[in-house]
Amino acid sequence: MSYISIDSQRERGKISKYIYGQFSEHLGHGIYDGLWVGPDSDIPNTNGIRNDVVSALRAINVPVLRWPGGCFADTYHWTDGIGPASTRKRIVNTSWGSVVENNHFGTHEYFELLKQLGADAYINGNLGSGTVQEMSEWVEYMTFNGTSPMADLRTANGHKDPWQVKFFGVGNESWGGGGNMRPEYYADLYRQYQTFINSYDADTPIYKIASGPNVDDYHWMDVLMKNAAPYMDGISLHHYALASAWEDKRPALDFPESEWFSLIKSAQKMDELITKHSTIMDKYDPQKRIGLIVDEWGSWLRAEKDTNPAFLYQQNTIRDAMIAAITLHIFQKHVDRVQMANIAQMVNVLQAMLLTDGTKLVKTPTYYVFKMFTKHQEAIAMDTFDNLSDTTSASVSKNADGYFISLCNFGLSAPDDITVDVDTAIKSVSGTVLRGLRMDDHNDFEHPDEVKSEEFSTTSFQPHQLKAQIPPMSVVTLQVNTNK
Ligand code: AHR
Repeated sequence: MSYISIDSQRERGKISKYIYGQFSEHLGHGIYDGLWVGPDSDIPNTNGIRNDVVSALRAINVPVLRWPGGCFADTYHWTDGIGPASTRKRIVNTSWGSVVENNHFGTHEYFELLKQLGADAYINGNLGSGTVQEMSEWVEYMTFNGTSPMADLRTANGHKDPWQVKFFGVGNESWGGGGNMRPEYYADLYRQYQTFINSYDADTPIYKIASGPNVDDYHWMDVLMKNAAPYMDGISLHHYALASAWEDKRPALDFPESEWFSLIKSAQKMDELITKHSTIMDKYDPQKRIGLIVDEWGSWLRAEKDTNPAFLYQQNTIRDAMIAAITLHIFQKHVDRVQMANIAQMVNVLQAMLLTDGTKLVKTPTYYVFKMFTKHQEAIAMDTFDNLSDTTSASVSKNADGYFISLCNFGLSAPDDITVDVDTAIKSVSGTVLRGLRMDDHNDFEHPDEVKSEEFSTTSFQPHQLKAQIPPMSVVTLQVNTNK
């Protein structure tokens, strides 16, 4: 049994749409075949980008897309990815399987994708192996409006108008694959590099993101905040949910009950991480100007059999839907600090929204959670009084019509009877459910619709009280209309 009480006066703050952000790296089939097939492909595309993928993603309101990495970002030289495709440099993707990267998807193609998705740009720059000049000129190439060497080059490559870069990351995992730096050293480099990221358009200044800690490296956070806080708008945090040790990735399908719970427990750690990192940030930024940017999160499981392990291709089950719902609820609890989050990764990599195989496409259970939660974007997170069962997670936001409640019962067998008290009179309720019957229920190319969202009608209400039964292994959303 669970209980939630909604007091219309108790607001936490606005839920940034950017916490529903995505991440796509040059990794496996995340970009190539997943998003990009090229204009000459038989797969229906617009300017090289898959139509089926864009159409599915538009339904989840992707607000921002982080690119080109991840680890790949610190080896990426942006000039390799501009100009005629046939003359672009072919390089080795040393981060992910040493496969050939033909650079056919570069800056212009990325902005074309953003245009089709209606999403904002989050570019991750190369600090690990790139120069200050290279990073500075990329920003000039993308955003300078007028005559300059880089703006002229952009025009020569077919795009006269500048693009808008909303977010810019200065290096990735600089404590590890991004350069194995000490925090003191990275803090100095961050201060230097960010100096030359010019916001040419004063009306839309670039939001600069420092490479933050790995999981619970509180020392990294402290040193960065102490030495570089005035120069940053955000600092990143990476945390992946693991069912066992990092070196012992567990299967995405056909796993024991213990791994249902160990993966969920690992995802729940996000709450503690945000709380502790925020406490450190508060020391140097009590006004909470600087955002905690969780730009890599999600489940990291064993790559599927007969796939290249370096491509990080994993199936996605109802358990991943639980991970998504629980984590998004945690972000909404911390709206005062979490200004953006980017699940890893959008297509065909780790906890993906979509899986593709040739012309085929599958929407994962995680996709449905993002679809069901779109109403939370830019709504007001409510500070509710909760008494939830041990296996239930919930979040409530206020919108123009009333309240939007999302619930996740990650118990394996018992439904949860939930009562919600509301201080304003309820006029109507509508609901959606995503549920599994087995722990590894999922969609594949032969059975694409095994797990999908459906109407949820088993609710009852009186003017100030709503009751619902949340099935085990399910995510439920309820729109509670109080205004009509
Ligand atoms: O998302 C996969 C990888 O995980 C990223 O490239 C890296 O930043 C992280 O270690």
